[in-house]
Amino acid sequence: MSINDADFRYIRQLVKNRTSVTLAEDKAYLVESRLAALAKKTGASSVSYLLRKLRSQPFNRLHLEAIESMMITESCFFRDRHPFTTLQNFIIPELINKRQTQKRLNIWCAGCSSGQEPYSIAILLREYFPQLTSWQVSLIASDVSQTILERARQGCYNHYEITRGLSPDLRAKYLQRRDKYWQIQTEIRQMVEFIQFNLTDKWPPMSSLDIIFLRNVLIYFEVDTKKVILAKVREWLKPDGYLFLGAGETTIEIDRAFKPVQFNKTTCYQLIYS
Ligand SMILES: C[S@@+](CC[C@H](N)C(=O)[O-])C[C@H]1O[C@@H](n2cnc3c(N)ncnc32)[C@H](O)[C@@H]1O
Repeated sequence: MSINDADFRYIRQLVKNRTSVTLAEDKAYLVESRLAALAKKTGASSVSYLLRKLRSQPFNRLHLEAIESMMITESCFFRDRHPFTTLQNFIIPELINKRQTQKRLNIWCAGCSSGQEPYSIAILLREYFPQLTSWQVSLIASDVSQTILERARQGCYNHYEITRGLSPDLRAKYLQRRDKYWQIQTEIRQMVEFIQFNLTDKWPPMSSLDIIFLRNVLIYFEVDTKKVILAKVREWLKPDGYLFLGAGETTIEIDRAFKPVQFNKTTCYQLIYS
């Protein structure tokens, strides 16, 4: 069975209203396969029955689950490698130097999905900057989806996931085997605070940030939404802080308050007056 245009438009609108994510016109197959999985999980007899239920009820937990199931949550450890090399070789050493007096670093990973990104940062800090254990390091990771955050908090990954981006040395040092899965060591998990946060809602108060990872998230939004989000990022980023975007994302022609800063193969962004 394939979902009809009206049902596809309904799901697109539901997702858009809640998250501002625009599902591309050609994503009907994705909507259908994810609704099929949700129907199975919730005991609905078919996708059509699930859609009827969604359409006939006021917004509730089922709608949230349907929306969350549509998110693209692709991630991996040390994704694209170069941003993490830049963090290790340039940015963390620079910030350690500059923040000697306060001994405090604030890092935020927005749209963190299943947690590989914030855990990669935590592993990098523990592995290469042991001196930071005596600092106050806040590493906040957020996502709109409660379901994916629950996975992230558990920090359990399958064999395929742990072989993507993690060297055997780091795997042996920072993950523990648990039956069919490998779990991020408690000490590393405790370095990350996961919070549910919709980038298109009102932003909660947060200490100003030294580093923001906002990678492979803006790509799903229309330009006007990107503008609104980047304007808020501006308020949260310290004048000498760094913003990391995904490889296919940029602030150029979206927000002139940012300037690209090149470190070998990585482009980061800083506020123009820094
Ligand atoms: C493709 S993943 C990126 C994961 C990670 N940053 C990386 O680059 O590997 C995009 C994430 O953005 C989240 N997301 C989508 N819309 C969002 C919104 N409005 N607010 C917060 N997170 C959102 C999704 O749930 C998903 O986990």
